[in-house]
Amino acid sequence: MNGNRDHVSEGEPDDHGAGHPAAPWDATFRTRTVHAGQSDGPVRPVSAPIEFGTSYAFADAATADSVAQTGAPLYARDGMPNVRALERAVADLEGADDAVATASGMAALSLTMLTLLSAGDHVVLNAGCYQDTVSLLEGHFTRFGVGVTVAERNDPDAVLAAMTPTTRIVFSETITNPGIVVTDIAAIARALRPSGALLAIDNTFATPALCRPLTHGADLVLHSAGKFLGGHHDATGGIVAGRHDLIDPIRRAGYLFGPLLGPLDAWLILRGIRTLAPRLSWMSASALRVAAALTAHPAICAVRYPGLPDADRRDIAGRTLPRGSGAMLAFDLAGGTDAAVAFTQSLRTIPYVASVGGTETIISFPPLPPSQGTGEPARDHRCATLRMSVGLEDPADLIADITQALDRLPISPTLSPATAGGTAAANGRSHETSPDHDT
Ligand SMILES: Cc1ncc(COP(=O)(O)O)c(C=O)c1O
Repeated sequence: MNGNRDHVSEGEPDDHGAGHPAAPWDATFRTRTVHAGQSDGPVRPVSAPIEFGTSYAFADAATADSVAQTGAPLYARDGMPNVRALERAVADLEGADDAVATASGMAALSLTMLTLLSAGDHVVLNAGCYQDTVSLLEGHFTRFGVGVTVAERNDPDAVLAAMTPTTRIVFSETITNPGIVVTDIAAIARALRPSGALLAIDNTFATPALCRPLTHGADLVLHSAGKFLGGHHDATGGIVAGRHDLIDPIRRAGYLFGPLLGPLDAWLILRGIRTLAPRLSWMSASALRVAAALTAHPAICAVRYPGLPDADRRDIAGRTLPRGSGAMLAFDLAGGTDAAVAFTQSLRTIPYVASVGGTETIISFPPLPPSQGTGEPARDHRCATLRMSVGLEDPADLIADITQALDRLPISPTLSPATAGGTAAANGRSHETSPDHDT
């Protein structure tokens, strides 16, 4: 972690002091996004070439062996150059020793769990985690003798209550998908420390521009890297970062399990990272303005955006996301599913897109929870939830589009924010409508 406080400036997430290994150099976070992962040496291309070669040629076996001793790749699964550059970059930005990139976020999660868990171990999933994460753990890891419990609420007491003597990993998201609930990572890390369990955090929605979970006491940080890291809806990838004692075995297991990221996707994601700091800063500011405008509209029952002044858990968001609350927000429309569908159809510039994190603002129904036990409160079934990923457009244009679409909806006086129990901070979620394939 950057130990030189003189270098901390706008865009630099706070160091909450958990003492992580030093970053390679002391530049600010924003500067490091521009340079992280670059190769050393007297000559380097400013834009790295995409190296598609999967195999290296040597004069003889002895030469190949001696090259392999240095850690250089002989073959694709050893680590291709563009993939290693991405891994170095994310490790630097997350304040980790190293990272392993994979073909998708789910591959990073699978590889991490396959490496660190054995039959008889137990995993706690914090309340509100991404539905496919829950499905993977509950539906597949249990087949191999791993116990899985979903915490009843997103708080340290509920996580502790879900733990057993064999709990090896506690898994959470910095900002939950789709509930948009900010996790108190530092409090959970403190609470589980005596148990020796590892804390793994999916940082997809926050990114290291807004939160670095390792500095809050987490042991591992994961990403669906094609979302905000890549940032342009044109690459798929995943990554897990942490200390050497965790990442080295994950890398060795990855060599055998083989969930490889390709060089083109690695290059695209690293290109996206070059603009991570300004993108997340701009998106956070725009999302706050959009959330405030939604809150003021009578067709809206509730808005969930951690940056709103009266948001639920505002104190946790302030500590965990001091540089901005991110691009993701959710809101409940009065009038239920019909109103939600009519609203999305009336939008002129904001398309319905299942995945999030790009330059373009998109809207979707959030993914359905896979089972009971997501820990989020039941909510008024007459409201339908929509999820928005705010992009880089002028927020005034977004608000104008959203407002014209909301103004077309019939407004039920019984479902105004005051009467529907909705506040800017409500934590509910619709269970009545969503397709289950959104990401
Ligand atoms: C928070 C979160 N984590 C993990 C994933 C899985 O990532 P991927 O789709 O890259 O496998 C997603 C996908 O939407 C996600 O939203």
